[in-house]
Amino acid sequence: MDSWEKALRVCRPQLPALEKLWPGLEDIWARGWVSNFGPVHEELERRLSARLGAPHLALTSTGTSALQLAAIALGLTGEVITTPFTFPATVNALRLAGATPVFCDIEPDTLMLDVAQIETAISGRTCGIAPVHLFGGAVRVDAIDSVAHRHGLRVLYDAAHAFGVTFQGRPITDFGHASALSFHATKIFHTIEGGAVAIGDPVTRARILSLRNHGIGPDGFDELGTNAKLNEIQALIGLLLLDVIDIEIAARREVDAHYRERLADRPGIRLMPPQPEVGRNYAFFPIQVDESGFGRDATATVAQMADQGIHARQYFPYLCRPEALKGRFPAAERAAATTICLPIDGTMTEADVERVCNELQPLAR
Ligand SMILES: Cc1ncc(COP(=O)(O)O)c(C=O)c1O
Repeated sequence: MDSWEKALRVCRPQLPALEKLWPGLEDIWARGWVSNFGPVHEELERRLSARLGAPHLALTSTGTSALQLAAIALGLTGEVITTPFTFPATVNALRLAGATPVFCDIEPDTLMLDVAQIETAISGRTCGIAPVHLFGGAVRVDAIDSVAHRHGLRVLYDAAHAFGVTFQGRPITDFGHASALSFHATKIFHTIEGGAVAIGDPVTRARILSLRNHGIGPDGFDELGTNAKLNEIQALIGLLLLDVIDIEIAARREVDAHYRERLADRPGIRLMPPQPEVGRNYAFFPIQVDESGFGRDATATVAQMADQGIHARQYFPYLCRPEALKGRFPAAERAAATTICLPIDGTMTEADVERVCNELQPLAR
């Protein structure tokens, strides 16, 4: 069996070549400027803004802080409708910003917020919607933005998984009032830890700049803020990975195609449906395992593959606030019980995909 270093595993972090890192580190050492918006940070912010087509972008220390600061800047202090099938950061950030998350169910095929359910969850206390783009795809942004517009609601997209994703050819960050990206090492583009807010206008961006730096604005101490700064070394990692992100996405597209070819007709395995309007980034390859059709549940499937040196992962194995929500959102509960992300990265060969698919087996009968 392969060592952990060589094993096929989900969310293996991309790392820049060490020889490319050294010159950048030497420059940072020579300047003696390691944090607080140094030149590498500023260059990354500029280049990301251009790459993502997001003119008003602010780097942050994590995706969670990006969500939290965006929620504060959008004034989300009432009820905010969101999905229970997400990483806890979505809900934590809303609560830390003073919002009250209100959940509704997801679409059973895309696993993302169901627009019809959003409509029924809107009350007189609703101030916003916080949909989550999952697994390198996108939630139905056109429909959500139009519901929000009709009801006068603010929309904060959790775009932690959606680096570079497009909808009808437009950058995904064009939609809603703000999008929060995560640059955690598990993401297709990362700075080890990091994130960014893409926001609709320069004034709100200036507010985020102040909030991420203790509330210190151009005129001094403006308001309550926090420390959500990204440092120079993290920004350097980001710049180096940005140089190769399009190669990575293209390589993953091939891996995705190999998986789809091999798994298309597997009994009990459901693939994410194609989203013709969405330009995916292939960050994840999720499948759903139907125990009755496949012969093994998701947990047992992941464990059995791990025994063979293939590290898939249940994503997300529990709902946010599972006890409070039990029995209320059947599609989300089913997604939590059945969804597995298979290993995907740009170094995987067709033979690697074959191996994963061969190990993805029901119980021997
Ligand atoms: C859907 C989702 N939202 C938010 C986050 C939080 O991002 P970070 O880990 O950068 O704080 C994550 C991280 O995994 C995520 O998967």
